[in-house]
Amino acid sequence: MEVEGSMNPVVSVKNLSVAYEDKLALEDITFELKEQAFLSIIGPNGSGKTTLLKALLGMVRPVTGIIRILGYEVPSERYEVRKQIGYVPQRERIDPTKPVLVKDVVLMGRIAKKGWSRRLTEKDHDVARRALEMVEMNDFWDEPYAHLSGGQQQRVLIARALATEPKLLLLDEPLSGVDAATQDVILNVLREEADRGVTVIMVTHDLNPLIEVSDYVMLLNRTIIAMGRSRDILNEYLLSRTFMRRVSVIMAGEKIVISGADHHA
Ligand SMILES: Nc1ncnc2c1ncn2[C@@H]1O[C@H](COP(=O)(O)OP(=O)(O)OP(=O)(O)O)[C@@H](O)[C@H]1O
Ligand SMILES: [Mg+2]
Repeated sequence: MEVEGSMNPVVSVKNLSVAYEDKLALEDITFELKEQAFLSIIGPNGSGKTTLLKALLGMVRPVTGIIRILGYEVPSERYEVRKQIGYVPQRERIDPTKPVLVKDVVLMGRIAKKGWSRRLTEKDHDVARRALEMVEMNDFWDEPYAHLSGGQQQRVLIARALATEPKLLLLDEPLSGVDAATQDVILNVLREEADRGVTVIMVTHDLNPLIEVSDYVMLLNRTIIAMGRSRDILNEYLLSRTFMRRVSVIMAGEKIVISGADHHA
């Protein structure tokens, strides 16, 4: 590990390749996030988005490459770095037959941070409550988690990640299957976190909602097609290459509207 210092990039990835059996899911990925920022990773199904987040978490072992997060090397120091990361996995389901309450789910974020040995304190409850407030779900503290809608459950899972008070937030498709109002709540809270100095990396294949909130965008399709400021790289040429189909980009005043990228559209 390196001496702690503000010069360490938050995320540094060099020549990363990841394979499942003999098939490469990621090939020669190199990028850095030097400062606190909001990065959106965009790409079609199967392009390696989830694999990249898992590589950052040390959950998949690279074939080649070096990953450093907050100065720690991953995967060898993944347990150290894991405590600083809030992770919202793609399509996580908590067993609906289990009688867990919303507060239990959010408090899991505090337990994950402390380890199982220590008891939850009043402060842990306060932090968990505040996290639930941030996603506008505080009225549901004592409700059974299984009674919530999909979008409400997604908010609670984000609150659980916020409750860990992370330096880095990794979210895998947090906007999929939620309505526009919930998308707004989620994006606003992520933008606020980024403004407070948390680094946010969000994976999505749904472009339009995130153009305004992201500082940087990475276009991914096994390799990095492009990475940069949203306005510099969200063009028809690069998006069509990323999604391997014709994508239209329309300027509506200040707003960019993209169509053809999302097969659900
Ligand atoms: N556990 C696994 N074993 C074998 N192959 C896998 C495994 N996980 C992913 N893959 C393959 O690796 C590639 C990248 O998968 P990944 O889940 O990272 O894509 P993704 O961009 O997250 O896709 P989606 O938008 O559908 O979530 C795909 O071809 C997938 O089939
Ligand atoms: Mg995925």
